[in-house]
Amino acid sequence: MILVTGGLGFIGSHTVVSLQEKGHEVLIVDDLSNATTDVLSGIKQASGIRPAFEKLDLQDAVGVKKLFETYSISGIIHFAAFKAVGESVQKPIAYYQNNLGSLLNLLAEIEKSTTPIPFIFSSSCTVYGEADSLPINEDAAIKAAMSPYGNTKQIGEEIIVDSVKAIKDFRAICLRYFNPIGAHPSIAIGELPLGRPQNLVPFITQTAAGIFPKLTVFGNDYPTPDGTNIRDYIHVVDLAEAHVVALERILTGASNDRYEVFNLGTGKGSSVLEVITSFERVSGKKLAYTFGSKREGDVVAAYADTSKANAVLGWKTKRSLDEAVSSAWKWEQKIRDC
Ligand code: UD1
Repeated sequence: MILVTGGLGFIGSHTVVSLQEKGHEVLIVDDLSNATTDVLSGIKQASGIRPAFEKLDLQDAVGVKKLFETYSISGIIHFAAFKAVGESVQKPIAYYQNNLGSLLNLLAEIEKSTTPIPFIFSSSCTVYGEADSLPINEDAAIKAAMSPYGNTKQIGEEIIVDSVKAIKDFRAICLRYFNPIGAHPSIAIGELPLGRPQNLVPFITQTAAGIFPKLTVFGNDYPTPDGTNIRDYIHVVDLAEAHVVALERILTGASNDRYEVFNLGTGKGSSVLEVITSFERVSGKKLAYTFGSKREGDVVAAYADTSKANAVLGWKTKRSLDEAVSSAWKWEQKIRDC
């Protein structure tokens, strides 16, 4: 059984669907701090299967121990973490406690197990900061983290590197995501940002749905062709599929190194204005927006060199920016109708 922590969240739920489509039996653990059990019905609708579910805060070491005693876990994909950059600046202790405490409790159980359990870690391109060259490959320097959230991802990776060295036969893969967007084509699951969304695409779709009067584009005098930031927006279903491939790579013994890192992106950068244009194209609606000042901590441009993931994992993205934005818009309309 594959343990998916944070499996009711945005990327987690899509990965559960992809795992189940590939015949894996899934156990979701989620503390419901940023999701509801309604997502289980969405997963059932998208994949035909309702996965097993346990409500648990992974900071509870006794609860985690019991979990490993109750279920026969043969692989772990670890998503459960706090992820709001701004909030992490206000609440650094909660972020370090939750994101690192959960990871440590899982690794402590792996260390005790007779056969080390393959581990996939949810990391972020934020570890590269403002990269020295583009596109960004996995050998790019890790820059000082700009936020406690980013630091929990960097430290998380370091903890895993040390654990792989210390635990015999333990294998792990860190996946560094660029900007995941979109929703499952069934529109049964998608992104559910609580409160005011910080990320671009949910803010665009909520603005178009009338929740906000307009979008503010954070800065238009960056050294990019149209002056706005460039990011690598990846369809969440493409991202989910990469997790299944990465897990199967360890399960089938295909990996040479016991620790591997992959960038997950499309390889193509899109500016904020290009995302807005994509939205207008797929929705047939005009989006109200203005230019505002730069957001603190934003890098000018970040997009992935995907050659390692393409060659080694044999994975590449199949879905376009328009498809991703269109699915996000369909999802927004669905949740507003409910
Ligand atoms: C952010 C985080 C990153 C995290 C990722 C998770 C920061 C600095 N980075 O990435 O660490 O892993 O989310 O999804 O917060 N934008 C606007 N107006 C808006 C919202 C966004 O112009 O109302 C612009 C931003 O300036 C940026 C782009 O849209 O250029 C994408 O922003 P966002 O979706 O927040 O992602 P990142 O900042 O790239």
